[in-house]
Amino acid sequence: MKKIAIILLVVFAANVSVKADEGMWLVHLIGEKTYANMVKRGLKLTKEQLYSMNKNSLKDAIVLFGGGCTAEVVSKEGLLFTNHHCGYGNIAASSTVEHNYLKDGFWAKSKKEEIVCPGLSVQFLVKIEDVTDMVNLKLKDVKPADLSAKLIAILTEMSTKATDGSGNEVRVSSFFKGNQFLQFTYQRYTDVRLVGAPPESIGKFGGDTDNWEWPRHTGDFSIFRIYMSPEGKPADYSDKNVPFLAKSFLPISLKGVNDGEYAMIYGYPGGTNRYETTYGVKLKIDIDNPSLVNLRAERLKAMYAEMVKDPAVKIQLASSYAGIANYWKFFDGESKQLLKHNVIAQKGKEEKAFEAWAKGKPEYDNLFANIGATYDAWRPYAKGRMYLNEGIKGSPLLGFASSLKSLDDALSSPASAPEEIKKAVAMAKTNFSAFLKSENTASDRNIVAMVVKMFFTDIAADQRPQAFYNMMQKGYGDMAMDATYQNFAKAVFEKTMLLDENKWDNFISKSDTAALHADLAYKTAMAFVTNFNANYAKFYTQFTANNFAYNKLYLKGILEMKKGQEFYPDANQTMRVSYGNVKSYSPRDAVKYREICTLNGVMEKYSPGDYEFDAPAKLIELVNNKDFGQYIDKKANDIVVSFITTNDITGGNSGSPVINSKGELIGLAFDGNYEALSHKIAFDGELNRTICLDVRYLLFIVDKLGGAKNIIDELVLSKQ
Ligand code: ARG
Repeated sequence: MKKIAIILLVVFAANVSVKADEGMWLVHLIGEKTYANMVKRGLKLTKEQLYSMNKNSLKDAIVLFGGGCTAEVVSKEGLLFTNHHCGYGNIAASSTVEHNYLKDGFWAKSKKEEIVCPGLSVQFLVKIEDVTDMVNLKLKDVKPADLSAKLIAILTEMSTKATDGSGNEVRVSSFFKGNQFLQFTYQRYTDVRLVGAPPESIGKFGGDTDNWEWPRHTGDFSIFRIYMSPEGKPADYSDKNVPFLAKSFLPISLKGVNDGEYAMIYGYPGGTNRYETTYGVKLKIDIDNPSLVNLRAERLKAMYAEMVKDPAVKIQLASSYAGIANYWKFFDGESKQLLKHNVIAQKGKEEKAFEAWAKGKPEYDNLFANIGATYDAWRPYAKGRMYLNEGIKGSPLLGFASSLKSLDDALSSPASAPEEIKKAVAMAKTNFSAFLKSENTASDRNIVAMVVKMFFTDIAADQRPQAFYNMMQKGYGDMAMDATYQNFAKAVFEKTMLLDENKWDNFISKSDTAALHADLAYKTAMAFVTNFNANYAKFYTQFTANNFAYNKLYLKGILEMKKGQEFYPDANQTMRVSYGNVKSYSPRDAVKYREICTLNGVMEKYSPGDYEFDAPAKLIELVNNKDFGQYIDKKANDIVVSFITTNDITGGNSGSPVINSKGELIGLAFDGNYEALSHKIAFDGELNRTICLDVRYLLFIVDKLGGAKNIIDELVLSKQ
């Protein structure tokens, strides 16, 4: 194992070829050149302080938070900082109309007041091992077309086998599109409690209007604490549990940032596709992104209409709405930036260079022609798949109904073992309670009407579930009329047993498939699901299998072509570090954006009573009195709310610590800028910026607005 690691270091640690600040580097494989570059940019820490397998290092202060964010330990007693939008679901789940922490904020004034968050966990990275040879051995005789399916099975098997029951969890991740495999061991803590959150009018100030944009005036943070058993082990919630004893935690700098200053970000970026081909970019721009954006826009409209009417519905739908809205705006912006930066031409050039290099190497013959053919074969069906997943299944009712197919299959198949059936029933029961709790019928009814209509109007006639639409036409009216879809949706919601606890209990206790098959919501969902499974799923499987095999080959070639250069693998929710500087930028002709923004800007945007731009009276009072305490930025003579850096990050990095040259916390990464929304596919060295909450704004809110001195007292603050 060790030897492989050394070889890798040699392979990935020669000279730096990437543009400045591009790169989400694997923490244990920071090459000499990259490290030297970090030092040149200002870093004062040793490599061992950045990452060490045996000694405490920075990596021990960073956790994977929930399913897809990052958080950092900031005190000896396991206090965590992350983004407000990362804690959002937990804050909403802890809220009621009477105790509305989403609206009013929450501050635990003692550990006793901290709120248990069922389902929330954090994971520490314990170790990393290279298992490439082992995986390759298992893949040796597998045909290219079977590679992707086989690989999933192998990685799952290896992960399960290596998970040893001691609280450690193992996941094997694929790098460079299946050309390298690393095994990560994590330790998961499942008792994580809410300690503090600002009111939403601070934590989500600017809402979706300002999301993915600079300048940005959002106080996007929330505070949690990890607990462990009295014996010091990970443990599920118990009142006997004690605060986590941190191996490593980040001290906090009160000094503030300057343009050009060093900034380093640790975290768990979820995914990038920097070696996407021209064909992939084209499919995204032409079909996938616009389909998703149009369908989400309609779903959001239906949800918003109910949320503004009723605070209880607002709490119920807030988290789901925010998640849908976040990537609705992202994918719209992504398409616009891909076009504006002419990424297809950029990728085309890279492909031409590759072809020139690959000339005379038979392995790569026709590679791009084959990729092109793979996309051509799938393209006619791509829209239908998006309309199924983002449209039909985007209705919570129809989405839940679709999930019952596995129960139906288990019950209907004579080959099912009793254990299997029991498992399927238990799963359906759990999903039902979750669904019922989150279901808002008023908005969902409009969503069903809308998506069934959009599938009819936007998808090629020969790809629709025709029998279903014939039934609709017969029973509910003319397909050209909106009222037809409304009538139909009304009937679905009146008749289905999936919204009626008694009927559901009756069905599930008898496990009666006849009742399920007769249910109008289930029938509707199945009309679309079966239509896809029977006619198009095979094309999709073929598309992903071929695409995987060709892309694996493409990356194999790139690794060979760039041998001796130091470069990073695509993000895949494994721990990465990125380095750069605090930096202003120019988004367009004649415009220059400063690197910081302040409370003065909050006041400029402030609009009393507005859904997105309201602000708490207490904040206004603090601003008017200039009551900024030790958190003031002397140069700006104001509180700095956020700043921007050149770091390369993406979704999943949310909540990530922004760390200065000395290893102190200066901010929390929470967003990327609009001008570089094409960043998952192509990094733009000029325009790319990470938007970071200034940690002094966080402290100011905790202290002056929340009055939670207990939290401040736990931290190590540095003024030097
Ligand atoms: N764009 C941010 C991210 O993906 C999330 C911001 C959440 N805010 C919102 N208005 N939806 O990390």
